[in-house]
Amino acid sequence: MSNFNEKNRRDFIKKLTGGALLAASPVNPLLAGRPGSAQEIPWAGKKITANDTIQIACIGTGIMGMGDTRTALKIPGVKLMAVADLYDGRLVRAKELFGNDIQTTRDYSQILSRKDIDAIILATPDHLHSQIGIEALKAGKAVYCEKPMVHKIEQGHDMIKAAKASKKTFQVGSQRVSSIIYAKVKELYKAGAIGELNFIEVYYDRHSAQGAWQYSLPPDASPATVDWNRFLSDKAPKIAYDPLRFFRWRNYQDYGTGVAGDLFVHLFSGLHYILDSKGPNRVMTSGGLRYWKDGRDVPDVMVGIYDYPKTASHPAFNLTLRVNFVDGSGGGSGFRFVGTDGQITLLGDTVTVKRKKMPIAPGYSISTFPKALQDQFLASYNEKYPVKPEMSEPDTEEYKAPEGYDDRLDHFANFFDSMRNNTKVVEDAEFGFRAAGPALLSNKSYFEKTIVNWDPEAMKIV
Ligand SMILES: NC(=O)c1ccc[n+]([C@@H]2O[C@H](COP(=O)([O-])OP(=O)(O)OC[C@H]3O[C@@H](n4cnc5c(N)ncnc54)[C@H](O)[C@@H]3O)[C@@H](O)[C@H]2O)c1
Repeated sequence: MSNFNEKNRRDFIKKLTGGALLAASPVNPLLAGRPGSAQEIPWAGKKITANDTIQIACIGTGIMGMGDTRTALKIPGVKLMAVADLYDGRLVRAKELFGNDIQTTRDYSQILSRKDIDAIILATPDHLHSQIGIEALKAGKAVYCEKPMVHKIEQGHDMIKAAKASKKTFQVGSQRVSSIIYAKVKELYKAGAIGELNFIEVYYDRHSAQGAWQYSLPPDASPATVDWNRFLSDKAPKIAYDPLRFFRWRNYQDYGTGVAGDLFVHLFSGLHYILDSKGPNRVMTSGGLRYWKDGRDVPDVMVGIYDYPKTASHPAFNLTLRVNFVDGSGGGSGFRFVGTDGQITLLGDTVTVKRKKMPIAPGYSISTFPKALQDQFLASYNEKYPVKPEMSEPDTEEYKAPEGYDDRLDHFANFFDSMRNNTKVVEDAEFGFRAAGPALLSNKSYFEKTIVNWDPEAMKIV
């Protein structure tokens, strides 16, 4: 069994069941404050001098940029200096939220040329991640780059090269990889809680207009308040100003990456972190545009099937991913890791382990045999498998994150910790591309109606 130490597993099971065969279902609070979590920020108790302050800027102050900035500023010793955005209303809002002292600009290069800015949060639409990310690294800035790391497969290696060459901290913003909840699943998996893994299923469903990316348009949106040409840059076709494309960019392949780049990517990064996996070697997807026919050119339902090859950290297994933006049951998101002896589910902030061993006695199906043969069969069966109290019901255990736990705060703590102490981040550019790669290939498979083979080690289409 790969990655499976029999002693660890026995210890874990003992702990899990407390020695009883049928365990009850106690809920164990997960403790925020594991090493590296924001509650244990290494410099939290230290006095931070002006010289030690990390000065940041945010490029792209939309929904995520503002959220990321607010989170980053909760870390001691971090100061916001500037923001760049292409819609004037967001620059006004940034001053309302973060104070009049910050610089606001439409031109992000004015931020990159400032010597007093150490790090940038990059939260523009996906099509500009590689352009701005690479320029920022070249300008000597640490970069917290929102997911997906890149918009196109071809951009992945350039971003990795730029991050390596700069020697600056580069973290991709899939915050789940810093979550204490995912850390618990990783610990359980490694302790052998479910035996040998064979299948994972993950879903991320929604049932609202906002969830399906029909974001509100500001009443003053116009070519005067929006810098349309900078938005297109040389990364998207030159077309006339279109507020829908600017404010609802996710709905168009020219700027976004569909449900796969937007949401599958979180699922890939989460499970790669848990399994120490480099990714799948075969990708196939299907789906369709079922409901949100608002001019978008991406599907609103997508299902993916992925083959993961055996590696040192996990056996070969199959994965299914699903996003459904028209989920009449109300939506929701969850993971299920299935192994020979049990399953781990992750729903919201709760991890549940459920274990059921395969019975030794195989059971029988003899009702179609003549009566005499049934009797003969049963006699030898009962002799071979005498009735023993077996673990007949699954035993269950739950772990729960503290109320209000915020994995993004831990992810930022990890980013700034790396800048201060020169430690490794959880999600560097290679990790980021190994999550973005299969997500982007999911789109390739969908649009080209083909199966895509991927080399997860070399990060290349085969
Ligand atoms: N980690 C997460 O959970 C998470 C959640 C949501 C979004 N995201 C990612 O964050 C990024 C932004 O998403 P969002 O929902 O905030 O979108 P958004 O449309 O709300 O914000 C994007 C902002 O970028 C600005 N922008 C565009 N081009 C720019 C440029 N050249 N210079 C400066 N600003 C520019 C736009 O004006 C807009 O305000 C996306 O890559 C998205 O995938 C991550």
